[in-house]
Amino acid sequence: MTVTESGMKQFRVKTYARRESRITPAQKKALAEFLSLYELPLTDSPICVSEVFPGTSRFAIEVGFGDGETLVHRAQQNKTTAYLGIEVYRPGVGKCLLQLHKNNVKNVRVSTNDARDVLLQQVPSNEVNEFIILFPDPWPKLRHRKRRLVNSEFIELCVDRLAIGGTILVVTDSSDYAQQVLEILEENPNLESMTAEQDAAAVQDKLWQTRYARKASLSGSQVFELLYKHSA
Ligand SMILES: C[S@@+](CC[C@H](N)C(=O)[O-])C[C@H]1O[C@@H](n2cnc3c(N)ncnc32)[C@H](O)[C@@H]1O
Repeated sequence: MTVTESGMKQFRVKTYARRESRITPAQKKALAEFLSLYELPLTDSPICVSEVFPGTSRFAIEVGFGDGETLVHRAQQNKTTAYLGIEVYRPGVGKCLLQLHKNNVKNVRVSTNDARDVLLQQVPSNEVNEFIILFPDPWPKLRHRKRRLVNSEFIELCVDRLAIGGTILVVTDSSDYAQQVLEILEENPNLESMTAEQDAAAVQDKLWQTRYARKASLSGSQVFELLYKHSA
C-alpha cells in the first residue's frame, strides 16, 4: 500500500453506523463456523477471480449487503456468476452465512472489510460485470453527508474496476442522495444511463429481497433506481 493510500485510510470518515450490535446466538455460531468457508480475507494484492471462484464466467459485487437476502437469492438464480458480498455489520454477515450454508451456495465469497479497502486493494481493474448497491446508509443530516459511501471518489473506483459493458446499480429512497449520485454518474464520461431500459419486473424481483426495500415500501417512500453501464 502506498503512503498516500494509508494516509487516506487514517483520515477518512466512516460510512457505516456500526459493525457490531446485538447478535443472536445463531448468528454468532454462523460466524464462528462458516465465516472461514466463505470469507475473502483482506490482502494487499488483487485477486485472480477465476481462482477464487472456479467455474464462474461473470463477476458481481454487492456492497453493503445487509442481511444478504438479495445476495443469496441472486447467487442461487445465477450459478455461473461469482458474487463477492461486502458488509461490515457482523450480525448481518452472520445471517447471510446461515443462508449460504443452509442453501449450499457455492458461488459467493464474503468480505467483512470496508468496501473501499476491498475495491482498492483486492478487486482487479476492468473485471467486474456488475456492482449492486442497495439502500446505502442515507446519512440524512447535513453535517453527516460526508459519510455517504457513494461519492465521486467511490464511483471513480467502481468505474475503474468495471469491465466494458459492466453495470452499476444504486437504489435509494433518499431523494437528495439519489440526486447526488445521479449527478456523479451523469458527469462520468465512461458511463451511460440504462435507467430507462430496466425491466420493472426484474427490478421488483431483486428489491423485495431487501429489508430496507420493505421498510421503504411500508412507509410509502419513493424508491430511486439508478442503473449505468460502462460504455467505453
Ligand atoms: C442501510 S443498510 C442497507 C442494507 C441492505 N443493502 C438492504 O437494502 O437491506 C446499508 C449497509 O451498508 C453497510 N456499509 C456501509 N458502509 C460500508 C462500507 N464502507 N463497507 C461495507 N459495508 C458498508 C452498512 O453496514 C449497512 O449494513
